[in-house]
Amino acid sequence: MRASTDPLVRTAERYRAFAEVEARGMSACYEAWAAGVAADPATVALIDQLPAVKRQPNLVFSAARLHGAAAGEYPAFAAWLCEHWTDVAATCITHATQTNEPGRCAVLLPALAALAGPLALIEVGASAGLCLHPDRYSYRYRLADGSERKFDPSDGPSPVVLDCDVTGPVPLPERMPDIVWRAGIDLHPLDVSSEADVAWLDALIWPEHDDRRARLRAAVPVARQQPAPIVSGDLNEQIEALVARAPAGATVVVFHTAVLAYLNEADRNRFSEQMTRLPVRWLSNEGQSVVLGVLERLSEPPAEASAFILALDGEPIALTQPHGRSLHWLAPGD
Ligand SMILES: C[S@@+](CC[C@H](N)C(=O)[O-])C[C@H]1O[C@@H](n2cnc3c(N)ncnc32)[C@H](O)[C@@H]1O
Repeated sequence: MRASTDPLVRTAERYRAFAEVEARGMSACYEAWAAGVAADPATVALIDQLPAVKRQPNLVFSAARLHGAAAGEYPAFAAWLCEHWTDVAATCITHATQTNEPGRCAVLLPALAALAGPLALIEVGASAGLCLHPDRYSYRYRLADGSERKFDPSDGPSPVVLDCDVTGPVPLPERMPDIVWRAGIDLHPLDVSSEADVAWLDALIWPEHDDRRARLRAAVPVARQQPAPIVSGDLNEQIEALVARAPAGATVVVFHTAVLAYLNEADRNRFSEQMTRLPVRWLSNEGQSVVLGVLERLSEPPAEASAFILALDGEPIALTQPHGRSLHWLAPGD
């Protein structure tokens, strides 16, 4: 668990770690806010009124922005937070960090398109289900030689265009996968047709990430046209029953991105065991040490510590940027 999300770590330390490890280079605003909180006992005392699991910087900052905190310097934020603390605290209690990033479909698509179809897709940890529509988005893959490969849904270009830099021997798809059924599981599903839930997804995107915000706004109407059902519950408890509901004759693909880190080791191992036992293909896109045995199957650890590993049935096939901005396909022996 990261220091910023570990409830056993003191609040000032959690915010300092968030500033230095997670926000630096990703969000100047969140870096300044988190460093400011870490050095400000009055704001720490406010945040310490929350249960320890709810003190994480990403949750508090997202809740503040949902209620109108403007990106900017720390002193103005601290004054704003003090004034609006009751509302922010209430949102922290009722909400969780569950960013839904449709851009991750760009790193999933080549693997999905290479599987024998038709496909029945099941996403565990689906949030609002925006990654359950990979065949309804357009893609622009930029190759190492500077050229581009574009893919559109079968009925024409999508308002959502996902850009992804690719390297390595990636099997770029010739056509979209044939997805005949889709469903998700989430502990707290967000409803893509609810304005309040979409406002929360928007607030979860970090201030400077305007491309991600634009992508969310474009993907929501696409998902609303044919929303995928999302079962409420724990992935380990629900997966077997959901697999049994998939249509006969389809290849069932269970996938997850940025999810298993939320589980303890025993639950992760239980999930891996279910993926081995059930009649499914298993596509995981997670942090490097999250899925048991995947990192160990690489000949050497990835140079970039933040890279995710994309694995099919437990075998690593690619390294991916966590929000789907880039994909490095592994060559045999990598
Ligand atoms: C960071 S979000 C990622 C959402 C989506 N996979 C994506 O990549 O955009 C993680 C999601 O996993 C869900 N989650 C965490 N633990 C879970 C569990 N044990 N069972 C089901 N869902 C879970 C959370 O509620 C959250 O919606």
